[in-house]
Amino acid sequence: MDKDILILGIESSCDETAASVVRNGREILSNVISSQIELHKVYGGVVPEIASRKHIEKINQVIEEALEEAKTELQDIDAIAVTYGPGLVGALLVGVAAAKAIAYGAKKPLVGVHHIEGHVSANFIERKDLEPPFLCLIVSGGHTHLVIVKDYGEYEIIGKTRDDAAGEAFDKVARAIGLGYPGGPKIDRLSKEGNPEAIAFPRAKIADSEYDFSFSGLKSSVLNYLNSCSMKGEAVCKADVAASFQAAVVDVLVSHTIAAAKEYGFDRVALAGGVASNSGLREGMEKACRENGLRLSYPSPVYCTDNGAMIGVAGYYEYKKGTRHGWDLNAVPSLKLGQR
Ligand code: KG4
Ligand code: ZN
Repeated sequence: MDKDILILGIESSCDETAASVVRNGREILSNVISSQIELHKVYGGVVPEIASRKHIEKINQVIEEALEEAKTELQDIDAIAVTYGPGLVGALLVGVAAAKAIAYGAKKPLVGVHHIEGHVSANFIERKDLEPPFLCLIVSGGHTHLVIVKDYGEYEIIGKTRDDAAGEAFDKVARAIGLGYPGGPKIDRLSKEGNPEAIAFPRAKIADSEYDFSFSGLKSSVLNYLNSCSMKGEAVCKADVAASFQAAVVDVLVSHTIAAAKEYGFDRVALAGGVASNSGLREGMEKACRENGLRLSYPSPVYCTDNGAMIGVAGYYEYKKGTRHGWDLNAVPSLKLGQR
């Protein structure tokens, strides 16, 4: 039997301070998440400066808790993995600085991880049989990508958003109908009480790129609808707006993913990122995959939104490949997928 490999994963790219201990890339020994949602709610979105300050306050405590919960000592850890981009620069820097200090002090290797690679890797936690290659739809607050996961850490992007990310559209529409931040889960909940066919919102198609996405037209269409209702003095059924908007987003995400799976000949499809916990998307994708003979994976909600476990998992596969970063590792706010 090979010796167990333990990775400490650290995540601080946005508004969650998180750390986790992962055994052999697939087993989560601890997953500690300190969310700042309550703090940013009053501003209707994440305030970068507040996020950085809160990360500084929380990071050591979160890391200590993750080690404790995993019943592990720092000496037993094989490598420290940390998100170094993309994300908010000040927020990323806190995680990167903490990881460097711990790795240096404990004489452990340092492995920088791409945040989106983390989201994709969250699928490996509960699906022990899932291995590349497969097709993955990544839908988060900052990203909407359709990628071929060729191997661990190797991606080919075949589609991406031209404007807003899917999560961003959820958040903006939620704000417009007065649901507050973060909007995704609130629209998800309210949609259950509404009629998805009540309002015909547009499904954007990009003429020259079959798998690209665009959500800004849909967002404008929702705003126009709300404006015209208010001009006419008509009451707005928020649940119908939420359900019809969500249906429009889900339709496009599902149709692009299924078309790409067919064209590229994949029989396995995975979802990743915060929006992957959307119940409408899960149901819509389940149904379409069933009808097209595709197997679908998606992480439990706690592994869809930002967490340290996904960074530990991605870090494990990077560690196995020999990826090591030096003490000059820096935060890269607009790090591209596949960039080192
Ligand atoms: O992946 P994530 O935690 O952070 C980024 O890397 O961006 O994603 C956060 C995004 C937010 O826009 C949030 O509104 C959205 O994911 N989200 C959802 C749901 N849960 C989170 N969107 C739709 N339905 C949900 N249930
Ligand atoms: Zn994320």
